[in-house]
Amino acid sequence: MVNTITVVGAGNVGATTAQRLAEKELSRRVVLVDIVEGVPQGKGLDQWQTAPIEGFDSRVIGTNGYEETTGSDIVIITAGIARKPGMSRDDLMNTNAGIVKAVSEQVAKTSPGAIVIVVSNPLDVMCHVAKAVTGFPRERVLGMAGVLDTARYRAFLAEALDVSVRDIQAMVLGGHGDTMVPLISYTTVSGIPITQLMPREQLDRIVARTRTGGAEIVSLLKTGSAYYAPSAAAVQMAEAVVGDQKRILPCSAWLEGEYGHSGLFLGVPCKLGRRGLEAIIEVELTADERAALARSADAVREPMAALTI
Ligand code: APR
Repeated sequence: MVNTITVVGAGNVGATTAQRLAEKELSRRVVLVDIVEGVPQGKGLDQWQTAPIEGFDSRVIGTNGYEETTGSDIVIITAGIARKPGMSRDDLMNTNAGIVKAVSEQVAKTSPGAIVIVVSNPLDVMCHVAKAVTGFPRERVLGMAGVLDTARYRAFLAEALDVSVRDIQAMVLGGHGDTMVPLISYTTVSGIPITQLMPREQLDRIVARTRTGGAEIVSLLKTGSAYYAPSAAAVQMAEAVVGDQKRILPCSAWLEGEYGHSGLFLGVPCKLGRRGLEAIIEVELTADERAALARSADAVREPMAALTI
């Protein structure tokens, strides 16, 4: 257990994240920050009142400022606007870049030793904003994307094969968008290569559905984007850090030559522990996967060029 985990943005993703953190007792205090007056306070109080029922001792506090967040061990940034039907994650860029910049300035001032987990979209570009503005080393700025994309992929596979989700191991790399790269060669069911269990056409359909998994939910909800699985994914990353678990999870990380790319955030297999990003694992990729990852990197670089921070 750490002392304080702050969640910035008390909307759908942020509030659900705070609730999950508290229920898992990952920190003594969970501080929920939002600019809207009353909302973080109200949600914080409501969540704290679930403690006697759920039986957790993490104190949930809602606030509009950063004083209560001082010295946070982990800060999860979910502030920003969410997608509406027809919008891509990149459509959110300018609005959310301004928001993530303002948040990052406060985080750098009040929690200079924090590990930052970014959830706001477009994810890989928002990670870049958070890293540039805080000045934190790459070990302490990570983006939540791959855990979510992999969870969607695993859920679709488990459903199609009628097996437990627990037995599906998989890795989705690349940017958090339509160019993401589900690695078929590393997808197994309890060690059995997926290609032995499913015809290629069915697998391709599942890969395609994974790529647009977020948009599928946006089109159903109509007024916002997914938040149950995104919050669960962010909390799994926080749990790996708090527990120094050395988990290997796909996360958006700042690349310095890994996979042949530099100077951008991209989804890659990361080892997460108490120091944050403890290693990037470089796995062998097929020529097709390498080319797909390069296309995904281009899709992240392109909007980055239009970014003014
Ligand atoms: N500081 C703190 N909170 C802010 C700020 C700011 N500068 N600007 C906006 N917010 C808050 C809003 O007031 C709102 O409560 O961020 C919250 C966003 O909540 P929702 O609109 O419910 O959006 P949500 O579904 O939670 O998604 C948030 O996560 O998954 C991504 O694409 C998604 O970028 C989006 C983000």
